[in-house]
Amino acid sequence: MGSDQQWDIVTGVGVTALAVAAARAVETSRADALIQDPYAVRFVEEALPAGRMPTTAAQADADPHGYWPGAATYLAVRTKAFDDYYQEAAAAGVTQAVVLASGLDARAFRLPWPDGSVVYEVDQPLVLEFKLRVLRGAGAAAPCEHRPVGVDLREDWPAALEKAGFDRSRPTAWLAEGLLPYLPADAEERLFREVHRLSAPGSRLGVEAIAFPPEGMDESATAGSVQTLGVDITGLIHTEPRPHPADRLSELGWRTRTVPAEEAAAGYGRALSDSFRGRVEYVFAERA
Ligand SMILES: C[S@@+](CC[C@H](N)C(=O)[O-])C[C@H]1O[C@@H](n2cnc3c(N)ncnc32)[C@H](O)[C@@H]1O
Repeated sequence: MGSDQQWDIVTGVGVTALAVAAARAVETSRADALIQDPYAVRFVEEALPAGRMPTTAAQADADPHGYWPGAATYLAVRTKAFDDYYQEAAAAGVTQAVVLASGLDARAFRLPWPDGSVVYEVDQPLVLEFKLRVLRGAGAAAPCEHRPVGVDLREDWPAALEKAGFDRSRPTAWLAEGLLPYLPADAEERLFREVHRLSAPGSRLGVEAIAFPPEGMDESATAGSVQTLGVDITGLIHTEPRPHPADRLSELGWRTRTVPAEEAAAGYGRALSDSFRGRVEYVFAERA
């Protein structure tokens, strides 16, 4: 199998999950941190040689390529926005959650889930294996029922999710954060249809929607990603045209609210760098 078919935490798209963990570690180290993720630093330290990615604000600020300060701020804002989304869903009584492409997202372990909550995490088997090993080593205990589901999201993931116990009669809070650019357009379309099919009334979905230039990403993005992440991110991203997630969800009958990332950032007292301003939105959708 090529690394575009299956990957672990240090190859292909897997590395992007480590980059998000690095950003969470950086944010956690700040005096004015928006989020606290005590596991993020351990994921980075156990996967990579020291210094490959920053784990403190001082290290991020010292990045000679200037990538990390802006990226860490953006990813902290995104994490906080979807932490809030999950806490609002829980407060509204939605106690089944599915994190699609969960990567090294530790929400199942670090958010205060109400009694009876079940959190499914869907990602590649080797990514989840690494994550569980590190969490076990850290003595992490989830305050919810945590159910990892190792499967490729371009394959029959709904069958795997149901086999793991997912209950489609129960409202669900879904999340697609840091995922859509890595899916080909047809897999994204299937993902929305399947989420819709598996969603009882009252279900919610949070989506990170990123706009790419129609001509695709340029050579500076390739060089930048190789320098900072060690992988050519442009080779992993699918930029073919597809409907905006809010439009697609409205067609399926969901109520949607779209928040530009810079507006979310301002709400948390942060400003985004140019690479993120005007390009990213958060879609919050609810099935009536
Ligand atoms: C940028 S990371 C985001 C991880 C997580 N949502 C977060 O924000 O920390 C992208 C994740 O998508 C997962 N992913 C991408 N394509 C996938 C696919 N076809 N099947 C399963 N997982 C996939 C990768 O393994 C990786 O963990």
